[in-house]
Order: sequence, then C-alpha cells, then structure tokens
Amino acid sequence: MIKASDFGDDFKWGVATAAAQIEGSAVEYGRGPSIWDTFSARSGKIKKGHKLDVACDFYHQYKEDIALVKFLGFKVFRFSISWSRILPNGKGEVNQQGITFYHNVIDECLLNGITPYITIYHWDLPQALENEGGWTSFSINSAFNAFVSICATAYGDKVKNWIVINEPFGFTSLGYMLGIHAPGKTGLNNFFSAALHTALAQAEGGKILRSEVSNANIGTTYSCSEIIPYTQSDNDVLAAKRVDCLMNRLFVEPAQGLGFPTANWDVLEKFQIEYGTWRLNDRMKFDFDFIGLQNYFPLTVKYNAFIPVIQAWEVKAKSRKKPHTAMGWEISAVSFHNIIKQFGTYPNIKNIIITENGAAYHDKIVEGKIDDQERIAYFELYLAALLEAKNEGLNITGYMAWTLLDNFEWAEGFTTRFGLVYTDFKTQKRTIKNSGYWWKEFLKT
Ligand code: NOJ
Repeated sequence: MIKASDFGDDFKWGVATAAAQIEGSAVEYGRGPSIWDTFSARSGKIKKGHKLDVACDFYHQYKEDIALVKFLGFKVFRFSISWSRILPNGKGEVNQQGITFYHNVIDECLLNGITPYITIYHWDLPQALENEGGWTSFSINSAFNAFVSICATAYGDKVKNWIVINEPFGFTSLGYMLGIHAPGKTGLNNFFSAALHTALAQAEGGKILRSEVSNANIGTTYSCSEIIPYTQSDNDVLAAKRVDCLMNRLFVEPAQGLGFPTANWDVLEKFQIEYGTWRLNDRMKFDFDFIGLQNYFPLTVKYNAFIPVIQAWEVKAKSRKKPHTAMGWEISAVSFHNIIKQFGTYPNIKNIIITENGAAYHDKIVEGKIDDQERIAYFELYLAALLEAKNEGLNITGYMAWTLLDNFEWAEGFTTRFGLVYTDFKTQKRTIKNSGYWWKEFLKT
C-alpha cells in the first residue's frame, strides 16, 4: 500500500471543482447568464433537461463545503470564477456582489488553512460575449484579458496560485466543433477560430497574471489521453498520431513557442496557413510555472476512411471488454503513467500538477452510506502509477481529485456522480462517500 508521505512533504493534495458545476444562484446576486444557462434551456441538450440554477447551492453552502474539504484532509481547494458573476455582460460594469462572493470563498479557505487555486476560465462564457461570436471572435481576447486583470487585481494579494484556462481542447471541441456542449456550435471553421483565440488567451492571460500578481504561481490545464493504435498497421498508427495532435498537442505546443503541431496532419497545416497562425507564435507563447494535466481515460483508435477530416474512430472500452467507469471511460493506470511521461518530455515544462483525475460510478445510498469500492480501487491504482512516474524523475508536485461533490456534469446533467461527497439534489444534503473517508485516511499516512 502506498502512503501520501511517499510523495514527499511538499506534495500538494487537493480537490477540484468548477463554478458552473456547483454554485447555483445562476440568476441571482447580479450574475448574468452564461452560455451554459442558455444551452441548458434548449430542449434535448442536457440529460433529463437539468439546469444549473441551483446545482449544489455552493453559493450559499460554501462554508460547509470548505469545512468538508478540511475534514477530508485536503490542503488545496481548486475552484473557478464565474465570468458572468463578475461581469454580467462579459465586459464593462463589474458586479460587486460577485467580487465579494469570491473574497468570501478565498477567506474561508485561508481561515481553514487551505490554499486556494483559482481557475479563471472553466467553460462558462458570458452569453453576452457569445452573442458577439464567443471564442470564434477575435474580440474575445480583449474581453478575456480585461476579465483576467479584474481577477488579478481583486484577489492577487491573497491568492498566488492561478490556472488560466481549463481544458482548452475540451470546450473548443465539444462546444465549437461537435455542438454537444455549450454554445452548441459545429464545424471545423468554428473549431479552428475558437482554438486560435483560446491559444492566444492562455498565453496572454498568463502574461497579465505575471505582471499584476506578485510571486504568482501560474499554470493552465490540459486534458490528456494516451492514444493507442488499435493495430500496428500504418493506417492505424497514423490515425493515432492525428488524434494525438488534436487531443494532446494542440494547446500545449503553442504555449511553448512551438506553434500548432502541423507535422503529422495536413489539416492542421492548412489551418496554420489559412489563419496565418505562425505569425502569432510569439503571442501564443508563455512560460508557465506549472502545467495541470487532467486524465480520465486512454483512447484506442482505428483508421476509418468514412470519418470526415480525422479519419479515425474510437474502439470503445466496452467493445474490447476492458474495465471502464459509468461514463464508459477505460480505466488504465498504465496509460495515466504513459501520458504524464509524454508531457514530461517537453523541455520547457518545469512542473506538472495533476489538476483533475477521478471516476464516475452509479452510487447508491444504502442505510445512510455510500460504499463506492470501485472508486476507491480506481484511486489506489492511479495514485500508485503516479508515484511510479514521480519516482522515475518526472517533476510532479501535486494531485487534485475530481471532485468534491456530485455536481452538474455538463451534458450529462446531474445523472453522473464523480464526487467524494454525495449530493442529494432535492435536499442539498451532503453525505461523505466511503471514498471520501478513504482519502481522509490516506492523507494521514
Ligand atoms: C474535465 C472537466 O474539467 C470537468 O469540468 C468535468 O466535470 C470532468 N472532466 C469530468 O468529465
């Protein structure tokens, strides 16, 4: 059995959340609508028609929830700032109630000896900005920069750890290419323009934090998945390389001044030429103090000529009879190790924090308890792999479990439970799952 102390005394153990998924009070206290409010009001977009209006009511229960973070033994709490709570129209007038709310959250963390890590953008764009084109519009960058600057000025004295953007590939692909997340746009043109503006935003956001927050520790997070070719045929191997460009390399490489990864995929090469992205390579570069990696599953892919553009197809875990979570996501600690190693080979990455990792299961309360043994087994497996990677010399300095509470899991609504703490969405009662108690014991070791 591994122990928390095996990771060293300075290792940061945390739990991660995001504003839209937990806060609720979506139309109260001066908050303007975000794209997720609009999207969830459209029929058929979110499972069971769930909406963010109340979510976990963190807005009112943040004190109790931060007490839970402390009780479980975590020393870091990661949360995000709702852009439209600070700037109801995305830009212009600031909502003071919003500013005060995050001061309260930060103060409560500090009072309890918990270090706050703030994510500036975790997918909830103000609807007013989406009306002007959202991430596909060039004007998004000045609006984003102004928002970063407001956050830095308001909280920079108290908060030193910052994450500029959460999973750029996640929201640009699901929201602007496939249309299954807000704002529900589709197509390659939307995706590429959103990707370009996001790559600029991550670097420019970093630069603003650097100049406005003294002694800041600045990072940004990436979703990542080991991409495994189904067979060793040339076609499958090349298909895996294309998917790797898209899912793993698309945003981390521009931040390092390498531009977009065009070598393995002509589609990206055309994008670079058409949008002249190479001219922006310097603007997209920023020397992050750390990068956050978020891993949930590997992907096995196969060449498929009928799939437009990418010509690759996922061979699902279920069909290969591999262990998977309630999301259908394959469980593979070896792949977790491999993908961290892959990111660790970039010479300019100084420091890696796992900013999200966790698993959804169909939790049930039985006699007041949730005995989520599968989730405990998942954490044991993944943490052992993380320790191996760390002991191999990769500079991994922290781990944040996803997530504190069962919450609004985007297009899945409240049907998917990732929490260490069970949320009863009718009563807002929290019940610590056995995995939560497992963490409490683990963190003492
Ligand atoms: C990544 C996202 O950052 C988070 O918001 C989401 O809930 C988890 N993945 C699980 O899907």
